[in-house]
Amino acid sequence: MGDMISGRDILSALQLEPEDIMDLVQLAEEIRASQPPRSLAAGRLMCTAFFEPSTRTRLSFTFAMKRLGGDVVDLGPEEVTSRAKGESFEDTVRMIDGYGPDVIVVRHGQPGSATIAAEIASAPVINAGDGPNEHPTQALTDLYTLWREYRRLDGLTVAMVGDLKYGRTTSSLSYALSKFPNNKVYYVSPPQLRMRPEVLDRVSGKLRYEEVERLEDVREPLHAIYMTRVQKERFRDQSEYEELKSYYVLTPELLARLPGKPIVMHPLPRVSEIPVSLDSHPQSRYFQQAQNGMYVRMALLIRVLGLQWPRGSPRRRAAVP
Ligand code: NCD
Repeated sequence: MGDMISGRDILSALQLEPEDIMDLVQLAEEIRASQPPRSLAAGRLMCTAFFEPSTRTRLSFTFAMKRLGGDVVDLGPEEVTSRAKGESFEDTVRMIDGYGPDVIVVRHGQPGSATIAAEIASAPVINAGDGPNEHPTQALTDLYTLWREYRRLDGLTVAMVGDLKYGRTTSSLSYALSKFPNNKVYYVSPPQLRMRPEVLDRVSGKLRYEEVERLEDVREPLHAIYMTRVQKERFRDQSEYEELKSYYVLTPELLARLPGKPIVMHPLPRVSEIPVSLDSHPQSRYFQQAQNGMYVRMALLIRVLGLQWPRGSPRRRAAVP
């Protein structure tokens, strides 16, 4: 339960058990309904150290901590820090940890970087994206979005569409969905951007999945279609990126042809895969999803920092399907 992640590093969705996930989802929902006291995290300090661009993740963590009454220190962009002078990631993390933050939120382009940070730092480290590897707090955001819609996290069919090779949100979401029974994922990608074999290995036997190239090949009714951006920054060959960037464009017409009535999700930022014409569509959820990210991160900070809210045992509230 909540006490299981108190003081722990959050590095991978694989480490989150269904009890933890349900606890966080339910806590996020309670926070939304009745804001925790602003003084809850008073005197606590979160440091955000982002070595790659971010809008939602950095801001939602910052809003989350400030809404709990805590303080936030941001490492700042490369040009104003000693990274521009060639300081190593390890040295930067060691130095930050020495200033005594209560939690460090790290994003870096190298897979495994959050684990390295966690080995160096005595403060808990939250992985806010380590290259193409993982983004566990986005997975929590996505699960909370699914739960708000369906009030369960089992027996769901989700199509993940786009850049599954370099996307970190789809690997973390796959791991998280594999923790619950009877979920099915359609991995929809161009042949060049198929889901990484190590991810398929880890979910196989726990998640039913099918790899297809065309959305038309999705046969089972979908609960959600999870669109992703082709990850430009991971391509060595920019002409390959140009060729693939608009491989899937979810028009309202295409959405109407999909089996079921899936909600439309996207971790954002979008490029061309979701046209603006879909924004007001009744099935679209991507902006709510971004907002959900703040509530779920408030819940996560409460648990990781071991704050006492709501009163009473989290065990009582968490129901595992
Ligand atoms: C995602 C990321 O950084 O992996 N963004 C986010 O955190 N919401 C998705 C992306 O950049 O495409």
